Amino acid sequence: MKQITTKDNSITYHNEQYDETYHSNSGAIEEAQKKFVDACKIREFVKDKYSITILDVCFGLGYNTAVAIDNILAVNPQCKITVVALENDMKILEEIDKINPNIKSYVLIKDLIKKRDNNEFNIINFPVKIKLLLGDARETIKQVTEKIDFVFLDPFSPKKCPELWTDEFFKDIYTIMRPGSKLATYSCARIVRDNLTKAGFSVSDGPIVGRRAPGTIGIKE
Ligand SMILES: C[S@@+](CC[C@H](N)C(=O)[O-])C[C@H]1O[C@@H](n2cnc3c(N)ncnc32)[C@H](O)[C@@H]1O
Repeated sequence: MKQITTKDNSITYHNEQYDETYHSNSGAIEEAQKKFVDACKIREFVKDKYSITILDVCFGLGYNTAVAIDNILAVNPQCKITVVALENDMKILEEIDKINPNIKSYVLIKDLIKKRDNNEFNIINFPVKIKLLLGDARETIKQVTEKIDFVFLDPFSPKKCPELWTDEFFKDIYTIMRPGSKLATYSCARIVRDNLTKAGFSVSDGPIVGRRAPGTIGIKE
């Protein structure tokens, strides 16, 4: 897999099957921070919370999860953090051991992959718990029993990976979210917003980062 250095100096990869990169060229870590963590207003949420549960759809290199954990612990070091991650490609997970992004909590992501037990990926390192479900997210989403506060929705583009942008898949995500919870994604494509609306979400603009179009926020009212 070909490594690429993005404009904030963080590493991403090019996926040959999809002919797409895992992150935007403007900055892989910046994308995690702005399009997912800031877009969800996670720092504000955890100020007075005892716990938070995040669903990371399309875990890839785990940047979104690791950056979220850094932000949460900076604001509230006692906050119990549960992350459920969905990913189907062992090849990208194997790259995690080879990179050292400038994210404090990345040691936890490395541990998660190292401590793999057959197809089970679990770590508990108080106050953080991460569980990764390996397989097609359209199937593994049905195994999630946790009630979710925030969803990071980060598949390849709707053009290249349409199966993860359907109203059926969004409905399965919606079902396990708590009332008032938020989903963030980088795409503002019409089909994405229409399908989120069909699944029950209230849709609004997310932040604009590194390109002209905004991302999208879906709220479960
Ligand atoms: C844009 S990348 C995600 C980048 C990631 N969030 C990160 O921070 O590195 C999209 C990811 O979706 C995964 N993917 C593609 N199809 C999938 C499926 N059906 N189920 C689960 N994951 C899938 C790919 O393997 C890839 O890792």
